[in-house]
Amino acid sequence: MGDHDVEPATIGAYVRLMPEAHASLRGITRVFPGDKPLHALGPLDLDIARGELFSVVGPSGCGKSTLLDVLAGLSAPTAGTIRFEGNPVAGQVPDGIGVVFQEDASFPWLTVHDNVAFGLRRGGVDPAEITRRVDYAVGFMGLREFTRAYPAQLSGGMRQRVCIARTLVLQPRMILLDEPFGALDQQTRLLMGDELLRLWRETGASVLLITHALDEAAMLSDRVGVMSARPGRFIDMVETGWARDRDSRIVSDPSFGVVTGRLWSSLRAESMKAIGRPGVA
Ligand SMILES: Nc1ncnc2c1ncn2[C@@H]1O[C@H](COP(=O)(O)OP(=O)(O)O)[C@@H](O)[C@H]1O
Ligand SMILES: [Mg+2]
Repeated sequence: MGDHDVEPATIGAYVRLMPEAHASLRGITRVFPGDKPLHALGPLDLDIARGELFSVVGPSGCGKSTLLDVLAGLSAPTAGTIRFEGNPVAGQVPDGIGVVFQEDASFPWLTVHDNVAFGLRRGGVDPAEITRRVDYAVGFMGLREFTRAYPAQLSGGMRQRVCIARTLVLQPRMILLDEPFGALDQQTRLLMGDELLRLWRETGASVLLITHALDEAAMLSDRVGVMSARPGRFIDMVETGWARDRDSRIVSDPSFGVVTGRLWSSLRAESMKAIGRPGVA
């Protein structure tokens, strides 16, 4: 069992606070106001190291998407501070952060090429540079033969590749993905996981991946944060210890079962709470 056979420590000890974190969240709380204010998240602290692939798992409705939105500057925290590359995040997605959302966010009326070029065109980038970067991103995601196709002509996995290419083309230094493979079948999900690992290795970007799939988190991550039921806080942090050149074949490594088992034992009681059965042991 080696490295993974560790006693759960106190919550404070899970959070490794890094002086040179790529992104850092301190004392983050998010309460949605209203007649009955809804405490969705925190308080929590989190550091994501430069080049780290960090995943978050947690019960449905625990605040995972809220965490991503807060880090991306899309939702203001009720309390706490967020820094990306040392600068405060507020009000908009910082330059250098790219977001891939859960739903298929491709524009059905644009070709693959134009979908991928969309953000650059809006940003007023030079046309020759746009062509160069779009060709690279389209090629990187294995879509070269489909540049002139429309999203409706593609499979779900292909459309999700288009969405990732749209983010990749912006050359992000940190990529945030909110359950990007949730709608895909198991085999496609594993293969898309390999694509994500390749992208992560070749770009050197840091990655925050939100997922409800424990196997996906276990296979892809350097470190996995397990969240409590709402309001989401970290109740466990699991370092996988995988090599940087890993791929989906790691699912047959004996350590893979150990990591997945640890994630599930941390998550099980919380998931029971989330479905309204707190008493079930
Ligand atoms: N804009 C909003 N206004 C009010 N409540 C919200 C809003 N967004 C999310 N919530 C609530 O906050 C909680 C956490 O939501 P979310 O972050 O989407 O959870 P997860 O992604 O873990 O499933 C849920 O109870 C959800 O209903
Ligand atoms: Mg969500």
